[in-house]
Amino acid sequence: MEEKQTKKVMLSGIQPSGDLTLGSYLGAIKNWSARADEFDCYYFMADLHSITVRQNPADLRRRTLEQLAQYIACGLDPEKNTLFVQSHVPAHTQLGWVLDCYTMFGELSRMTQFKDKSAKNADNINAGLFTYPALMAADILLYQPDYVPVGDDQKQHVELCRDVATRFNNVYGDVFKIPEPYIPKVGARIMSLSTPTSKMSKSDKDPNGCVYLREQPEVIARKFKKAVTDSDTEHCVRFDPAEKPGVSNLMSIYSACTGKSMDAIEAEFDGKGYGAFKPAVGEAVIETLRPVREESDRLLKDKAYLEQVYREGAEKASYIANKTLRKVYKKVGFLAK
Ligand code: TYM
Repeated sequence: MEEKQTKKVMLSGIQPSGDLTLGSYLGAIKNWSARADEFDCYYFMADLHSITVRQNPADLRRRTLEQLAQYIACGLDPEKNTLFVQSHVPAHTQLGWVLDCYTMFGELSRMTQFKDKSAKNADNINAGLFTYPALMAADILLYQPDYVPVGDDQKQHVELCRDVATRFNNVYGDVFKIPEPYIPKVGARIMSLSTPTSKMSKSDKDPNGCVYLREQPEVIARKFKKAVTDSDTEHCVRFDPAEKPGVSNLMSIYSACTGKSMDAIEAEFDGKGYGAFKPAVGEAVIETLRPVREESDRLLKDKAYLEQVYREGAEKASYIANKTLRKVYKKVGFLAK
C-alpha cells in the first residue's frame, strides 16, 4: 500500500468506435504496456465518447469486449493495471457535467477534432460531440494522473484538460493534479497507407488505408504491398515527411516496430528501392501484431475471465474516481448526502 501511494499515475483510453488500428497501437497502447511496474496505470474503453457518433449497439458491445482482450494481449496485465469500461464508472459523467460548467464555448469551438468530425457528420453535430473534451478532462482528472500517454491528435484535448483543471484550481484550491501529455517520439502520428497525408483512423472508409490489430497476416502483407509511396523519380528510402509523406510514414512504422533509427533504415534499403522496402515493412508489422492477434483470439474464448477483469477494474477505478468526485462536489457547494 505504502509503495503504491508513491508511484506516479498514468491513464489513457481509446474509443471502441471501430476496430483497433496500427495507429492506436503504435501511437498509444505500445507505450502503455512498458510502464506497468513503474506507474499506477488506468486504461479504459471510452464507450461514452463513442456515441457522439452513431453506433450500432451490438457492434459497440462486441468491440468494447474485443478492445479489452486486445489491451491484455498487448501486454497490459490486469493484475498490474486497472482496466475498465468508462460507462461502468458513473463518476465520469458526474464530473463531466461539473466540468462542462468550467469549460468555455470558445475553447471547445477551437478543437480541431470537433471541426473535423462535424465536417464528416454534418447531419449529426450533437451537443456531446461539442462538449466531448470536457468529458475527456473528467476521465483524466478523476484519477489525478501525472501522465496521459496519447498520440499527437489528442494533445490539444489534454492541453484543454490542463487549462480547465488550472481554472478550477484557481477558484477552489489544489483539487486536481495538472497532467502532462506523454507522446512517443516515433509513431505519434501514423498516416493512412492509401492517403499518407491523412491520419490512419478506425473510422476510415477506405479499408486499404488502415491496418487492424486482429487482421490476418496475408491481408496485412497485401495492404503494405499496395501502400502509396511517392511520385518522385528517385525511388529511394529517405525520411522527409514534407516531400515524401508515403515513404516517411512507412519508415515511421518500420522504426516503431523494429526499434531501428531512420539512419539505419536508410542504410538498410540504400539502392534497393520501394520494391524491397514495402514488403519488409509489412513483415515487421505482421511479426509485431502476431502475438497480439493470437492472444486476443485466445482471450475472447474466455468471456467469464474478461467479465471478471472489467468488473474488478470498475470497482478499483470507482474507488479512486469517487474520492476525487466527492472533493469536487464539496468544493462547488453541493449539499452532502
Ligand atoms: P482515439 O480512440 O481516437 O485514439 C486512441 C489513441 O490512439 C491514438 N491514435 C493514433 N496515434 C498515432 N497515429 C494514429 N494514426 C492514431 N490514431 C489514434 C490517439 O492519439 C489516442 O491516444 N478522446 C480519445 C479517447 C479518450 C481519452 C480519454 C484518451 C477518452 N478519454 C482520456 C486519454 C485520456 C480518443 O478519441 O482517442
